[in-house]
Amino acid sequence: MSTPGPISLRWVRDARDLRAALDLRIRVFCDEQGVPRELEVDQHDDVARHAVAVTPDGTVVATMRLVADGGTIKVGRVAVERAWRGRGIASRLLQRAYEYALDQRAEELRLAAQVEAAALYRKAGYQEVGEVFDEAGIPHVWMVQAVVPPRRRRRP
Ligand SMILES: CC(C)(COP(=O)(O)OP(=O)(O)OC[C@H]1O[C@@H](n2cnc3c(N)ncnc32)[C@H](O)[C@@H]1OP(=O)(O)O)[C@@H](O)C(=O)NCCC(=O)NCCS
Repeated sequence: MSTPGPISLRWVRDARDLRAALDLRIRVFCDEQGVPRELEVDQHDDVARHAVAVTPDGTVVATMRLVADGGTIKVGRVAVERAWRGRGIASRLLQRAYEYALDQRAEELRLAAQVEAAALYRKAGYQEVGEVFDEAGIPHVWMVQAVVPPRRRRRP
């Protein structure tokens, strides 16, 4: 059982970090949810911005990737180690994705949510668009959120 402690978020900074993020995804999506391994890591991983959540001792306990496509930032592969769920870590990752989109002057964030996890994304400001579809045997739905820059302060 993991002991609670301050979790910090950061972008992956080297090959070791990325390996830890990919290993976590394989544990969560392949071992736990049955996604075939050959589908889990794809060509987008080479160009994505990967975020990790780490414990004070440096263990990676959550991850997410962001892929830019024109004015859209696609959020994907949001995964939290089982023992660390329900503590707001995914929500913090999603907040970081929004800040990144603002910084990049993106127009929208988009993600294919597992229908079961849609409530997580709704709480983070996303709305479902379109029909439910199957991906790797799991029902998904597209969800989007507009990126709204904070209003510039008016000069007096
Ligand atoms: C889904 C997942 C990423 C959520 O991570 P988490 O760190 O536990 O999420 P949070 O603690 O930030 O949850 C935020 C809110 O979303 C809700 N939520 C989280 N996971 C949910 C789920 N699977 N179904 C419904 N609601 C969920 C929580 O109730 C919580 O609301 P609350 O704070 O009002 O209780 C995590 O359970 C996980 O890795 N699951 C396996 C992989 C997966 O399904 N990834 C999503 C792919 S689309």
